Amino acid sequence: MCGIVAYLGNKPAKHLLLEGLKRLEYRGYDSAGIAIMNGKLNVARAVGRVAMLEEKLEGLEGFDGSLGLCHTRWATHGSVTEHNAHPHRDDKHGIALVHNGIIENYAALKTYLQDKGHTFTSQTDTEVLAMLIGELYEGDLEKAVQAALREVTGAYAICVVCEKEPGVLVVARKGSPLMVGIGSNNDYVVASDGAAIISHTSRVFMLDDYNVVKLTREGFRTTDVNNVAVNPKVQQLEIDLEQIELGGYPHFMLKEIFEQPKALRACMSGRMDLREGRVVLGGLSTFGKEITRAKRVILTAQGTALHAAMIGRYLLEDLAKLPSQTEYASEFRYRNPTIEEGTVVVAVSQSGETADTLAALHEAKERGALALGVINVVGSTISRDTDAGVYLRVGPEIGVASTKAFTGQVAVLTLISLFMARRRIMGAGDCGDLLREMERIPEKIERILEQAPIIKKVTEKYVDRENWLFLGRGYNYPTALEGALKLKEISYIHAEGMPAAEMKHGPIALINEGMPAVFIANRGRQYEKVMSNIQEVRSRGGHVIAVATEGDEQIKKHVQDVLYIPDVPEPLSPLLTVIPLQLMAYYAAVARGHDVDKPRNLAKSVTVE
Ligand code: G6P
Repeated sequence: MCGIVAYLGNKPAKHLLLEGLKRLEYRGYDSAGIAIMNGKLNVARAVGRVAMLEEKLEGLEGFDGSLGLCHTRWATHGSVTEHNAHPHRDDKHGIALVHNGIIENYAALKTYLQDKGHTFTSQTDTEVLAMLIGELYEGDLEKAVQAALREVTGAYAICVVCEKEPGVLVVARKGSPLMVGIGSNNDYVVASDGAAIISHTSRVFMLDDYNVVKLTREGFRTTDVNNVAVNPKVQQLEIDLEQIELGGYPHFMLKEIFEQPKALRACMSGRMDLREGRVVLGGLSTFGKEITRAKRVILTAQGTALHAAMIGRYLLEDLAKLPSQTEYASEFRYRNPTIEEGTVVVAVSQSGETADTLAALHEAKERGALALGVINVVGSTISRDTDAGVYLRVGPEIGVASTKAFTGQVAVLTLISLFMARRRIMGAGDCGDLLREMERIPEKIERILEQAPIIKKVTEKYVDRENWLFLGRGYNYPTALEGALKLKEISYIHAEGMPAAEMKHGPIALINEGMPAVFIANRGRQYEKVMSNIQEVRSRGGHVIAVATEGDEQIKKHVQDVLYIPDVPEPLSPLLTVIPLQLMAYYAAVARGHDVDKPRNLAKSVTVE
């Protein structure tokens, strides 16, 4: 949520910054801005996408320097206007700053600064920080930033420049992600995410909370806010450029849906010992004993990751017979939760930066839980703050609507459940059987993807309807929630997901002639019950689209449309049933003319609570 990029070096900064910013647009895209040092600081801002800023810059002179910073915004404080767009400036020393996060005590600081005679031009918390740095500036930007950060509470990743020090870039972080890419020529690219760095260098270091880095063309130094030196750990960024380009697809979402077979193969590779019928998870080995002896598992997440976590709960209870629960991280954190001895908390997150999930994790750790992560982004904050974990290995996910991360999360949670089950109650034979079935999942997804034209046609039949239901039972109740969320997120159609049985306790009143109801009706323990629920919808005029198992010809008599998935053991079925739902949401959004990869009001990585 909000993306920032800064550059200091010998090349012209403008193009490089804008390219980086476009790669971070998934973090927010309501307005953008840039500041470049060229004798003096030149600043331009525009409402809308980075492309609008780029257009504006075409008519402007003075943006030729090789030190600069830029920002793409997802509004928190202050509406979407040019005045509220970053960079923000102080009113004394030519300081400019871009910020991702929220300064929580900004109101008190603003009053203090207004009393000192400062005049504000925006409603943002960020301008307060720019002014505060200006107020504390005594000829040394690094010192002023450190001093200001000692006064603020909240979250920040910031990049700061000052006209009086035209060769200095100061960057800092607490809570929001920031990394420094070290180029070969004493040049540096600083960004919220490696996607904006990788085309320049793969040598990076992540900032830890309260780190402040001063960069010049002669080198850099890292301290904390009290000016105590810190030694950052330089590492290789493992992103492939190909993974963050469209590669011929019209949208990242479609690319990522089609990448799922490959992504899941990478996710499972080396983690399944078919001969011994066991799961090998190196990331959990240090805590193997504690995990095996766990008495309760709490899975916590937000959004799509929460739906994956809900499936994880079914898996843990069903396969490992472990009491488990799922919790919205945002609710868990403030509920004064009880954590008994032997509780394992699993934070599930694609980005590893979601503020709610991070806060829930800290709360659980403080109360004595062992904290595990199921995370995609390597080195992200949550992955660093957990005791142990398992990475998804599905590659960067750029589309705001999460798809391959969801199946990756479900696959990893299945592996973790089998890891626990095998050490508790499950024999090698049963575990081996399920692992062999898991191995075939990518190939089965390929078969569903081949049906994309049919799924498109079915979706287009209903695309003008404004209200949809998604219904499922057991393992596929969370899948129904995910199907509804996907449709809402990108096609702006109102959709509700719920347990199929719950429908008759209220929502059935919504059903009228022609209302689409998507039922997940694959073969499984509750098939007959789902069929009854289908009848209840049909008899009230609803139009049923069923996701059913290949070979189930009977179902055609009871529903308007069927989308088939290959046969699969029930615990693994969400990995298949979700695929047609992802494609339906995609085709609905395209038919309605929406920008699939940048849905309105959303951001991919939500780093505020
Ligand atoms: C945002 C995104 C969702 C995502 C959720 C959790 O709301 O729009 O797609 O599922 O955050 O993100 P995480 O990175 O923690 O999985």
